[in-house]
Amino acid sequence: MSSTTLLSEPMELSNKVKIKNRIFKSAMSEGLSTKNHLPNDQLLRLYKAWAEGGAGLVVTGNVMVDRRALGEPRNVVLEDDNNLSLFKKWANAGTKNNTQLWMQINHPGKQVFKGVVKEAVAPSAVPFESKLQRFFPLCRALTVLEIREIINRFAQTALLAKRAGFTGVQIHAAHGYLISQFLSPIHNKRMDEWGGPIENRFRFLSEIYLTMREKVGDDFPIGVKINSSDFSKAGFSEEESQFVIEKLDNLGVNLIEISGGTYEKPEMTGKNVKASTMKREAYFMDYAEKLKKKSNVPLVLTGGFRTLEGMEHALHENATDMIGLARPMAIYPNFPNLLMENDVPTLGISPVKTGLSFIDDRAMLELTWYSQQLERIAKGKATKPSFSPLLSLFLTLAKNGKEVFQQRRA
Ligand SMILES: Cc1cc2nc3c(=O)[nH]c(=O)nc-3n(C[C@H](O)[C@H](O)[C@H](O)COP(=O)(O)O)c2cc1C
Repeated sequence: MSSTTLLSEPMELSNKVKIKNRIFKSAMSEGLSTKNHLPNDQLLRLYKAWAEGGAGLVVTGNVMVDRRALGEPRNVVLEDDNNLSLFKKWANAGTKNNTQLWMQINHPGKQVFKGVVKEAVAPSAVPFESKLQRFFPLCRALTVLEIREIINRFAQTALLAKRAGFTGVQIHAAHGYLISQFLSPIHNKRMDEWGGPIENRFRFLSEIYLTMREKVGDDFPIGVKINSSDFSKAGFSEEESQFVIEKLDNLGVNLIEISGGTYEKPEMTGKNVKASTMKREAYFMDYAEKLKKKSNVPLVLTGGFRTLEGMEHALHENATDMIGLARPMAIYPNFPNLLMENDVPTLGISPVKTGLSFIDDRAMLELTWYSQQLERIAKGKATKPSFSPLLSLFLTLAKNGKEVFQQRRA
């Protein structure tokens, strides 16, 4: 008997949407759009590879709701139906093999590298901690009118994703981007109904969800990715995260993905994770277990899963309903099939390091190294697990330098 019994079990969401197995490919920003922020053939190839690779549910890298608010130079943007036919092709490629394909929808707020946008906005004009200020621009606080406009943009992008043939959407409320900035008592210092107690800091996310739900209807799945905590002293805490998840469950969100950390504290990539946690593989397992005891909301736990035993154990212990995987899917797009066949490669996935502490202390190189693997799949090349981190850094600087220059000229 294969030991993958639980992983291969289908699952049904509260709105009767069926997912063929418990493997959830988590969002990885591709940075592969056209210069005009549209999907292209490279994206189609990448998503076809993942659809054929066997995951039950594939989430796209973050798609932005506004071309004036990019997180990175080559993000896909979906804000109107001018080029919906290209998104239809993308949805078509990614839903092959009975794969659920959900679009992750995001606004970066102030968490955007210098030179990528003209102006960074946030709930309040609070700068990042001093160590990060060389990377991120100063920001200004959003007006109430602008907050309402962004809420409508999230809903509009979801509706367009549905029209294009994506089978669901995920709201990105984790990792320090705009929604996460609203949730954070450090980054949200507003004195109006959008700031203050957690009930108010949650308002932006709840309004996004409710407006979106009204547009897409009850049958279309909406998920939310949220932090277990921001891991900052006096920041968004586990208790607040639990409060928000309970509310989202009551509002009817179909699937919650648990992650953690921000660019200030990049715990989502396993930075600073305790040895005892590492033994359990999943970085946020303890938190997921606590949640599961209190609530029936369907959960995906993401971050750190590498072995079949670790995944099966988490499902068996009822710590989660689905297993979120990101980096393994950048090296082996067919990782789910390998898991199902019980033929799992030993993942030589260790932290990506250059030896330069000011780079290694942040998660940035980790992300770019894996993005370069995605680009290889997208170009039809084999992935390269032995790729040198220093070369990766060099290529990133060369590419982003050029992109930033182009962005400023535009
Ligand atoms: C290259 C790369 C890009 C990422 N982009 C996103 C993103 O767009 N949205 C998001 O929610 N998480 C993003 N993540 C985080 C992953 O979804 C995931 O939470 C994290 O990598 C931990 O899972 P893992 O240990 O399986 O890699 C990204 C991770 C990587 C490596």
